[in-house]
Amino acid sequence: MKKLAELYAGKAKTVYTTNDPDQLILHFRNDTSAFDGEKIAQLDRKGMVNNRFNAFMMQQLEAAGIPTHFDKILSDEESLVKNLEMLPIECVVRNISTGSLVRRLGVEDGLDLEPPIFEFFLKNDELHDPMINDYHIITFNWASQPEIERMKDLTFRINDILKKLFFDAGLLLVDYKLEFGRYQGELLLGDEFTPDGCRLWDAKTREKLDKDRFRQGLGGVVEAYEEVGRRLGVELPSSKA
Ligand code: C5P
Repeated sequence: MKKLAELYAGKAKTVYTTNDPDQLILHFRNDTSAFDGEKIAQLDRKGMVNNRFNAFMMQQLEAAGIPTHFDKILSDEESLVKNLEMLPIECVVRNISTGSLVRRLGVEDGLDLEPPIFEFFLKNDELHDPMINDYHIITFNWASQPEIERMKDLTFRINDILKKLFFDAGLLLVDYKLEFGRYQGELLLGDEFTPDGCRLWDAKTREKLDKDRFRQGLGGVVEAYEEVGRRLGVELPSSKA
């Protein structure tokens, strides 16, 4: 597998083309950002931790029957994935109220949401990823009706799988964001699943162990990601003292 040109540099990952048009390389960088790129930092080890974390999660999901773009880890910070035609849509599921839901609707923080809430957002930094619904998606042709149904179905199936996986590790899956893309006529889970794109709280203390530590300046960001990884059984080289 030969790495060719940089295709796209996001806020925390860079995507490279390869000599196979059906495959891309994802490079998880040490960069982290919040508030649409307003707050940025470099965090030692983060790229490596997220690359391994993501590989573990994608493999767990594949084993549970979820089709993903993940192929294999190539190096500390790089993984090989299928080249999807990404939909410009973010799918969010919330099991506990917090974050933008609380800001938007004025509801109490930390409520159990039953049934869980599903939301679509348009992936557009300049517009601050506005919330959209099925009608916007159809009218503006961002995805088809069957694709909408498939995104909802997969996102809720992933919720069942991951709520249990995290709960068994003493963690609450508060909410998360997923992105999907087209590949050979099928919709696959793309992008990443790491503590950058979900909220995880310790089940007993409700301590935050995700990117909110960076957003809120709580410190110990990568250490929290490593703690989550350790509890799940993700293989991570032991961190420096
Ligand atoms: O900010 P909000 O409460 O809407 O975020 C919901 C979930 O989606 C959080 O887990 C957050 O980390 C994730 N998210 C994301 N990327 C975005 C927006 C939200 O990973 N652009």
